[in-house]
Amino acid sequence: MPRKRVAVLISGRGSNMTALIEAAKAEDYPADICVVMSNRPDAAGLAHATAAGIATVTIDHAVFGKNREAFERAMQRDLQSRSIDLVCLAGFMRLLTPWLVRQWLGRMLNIHPALLPAFKGLHTHEAALQTGVKIHGATVHFVVPEMDSGPIICQGAVPVHDADTPRTLAARVLAVEHRLYPLALRLVAEGRVRIESGRCFVAGMAGGDGTMIVPSAEGCEPSR
Ligand code: GRF
Repeated sequence: MPRKRVAVLISGRGSNMTALIEAAKAEDYPADICVVMSNRPDAAGLAHATAAGIATVTIDHAVFGKNREAFERAMQRDLQSRSIDLVCLAGFMRLLTPWLVRQWLGRMLNIHPALLPAFKGLHTHEAALQTGVKIHGATVHFVVPEMDSGPIICQGAVPVHDADTPRTLAARVLAVEHRLYPLALRLVAEGRVRIESGRCFVAGMAGGDGTMIVPSAEGCEPSR
């Protein structure tokens, strides 16, 4: 099967982009990262992509002012000119219109730093700490017009510690994101993900590697 042609869309540091680029170096990986596209000329990830030998393109949303449609048409033209099969949003900080999303239904992925449908939107780690959840994590899902919704491809969970700050929790979640996104892209590129009634079913995968209970007494001193 030919490797899928992938565009990664970023707005910032691009650590998930780097995880995808690294994964795609493997001979048996089913996708090539063909281009990294940014809506911000100053996105730090652009330099990392260039260093990794990946083509980059900047389509600066600010140039288009309020004309969201023209901005998205410019992106779409570029993606089509490169015969892109799949788009991965990786810290891409522009809301997309239903028009663009519809062009890529079932072919556009996003990573969100929370266990959806909990904590949609921004500041997910602050929200998790405020709410007091004991398990937090990240989700890769297909993009639909409604923000941070759409069929869930895979999720990774981490414990929340009492001493966590948004920063320490973000770092723990990010480490999972870097494992999760390459896995999700692999599954989709291999054609193993079927969407049915808004749910993803993944062929040939086990249900996970165990139960997580937080807090756990494991490794703790017995209480007196
Ligand atoms: C990640 O936390 C991702 O889940 C969210 O934006 C952040 C992007 O980080 N959508 P990076 O640019 O990939 O380092």
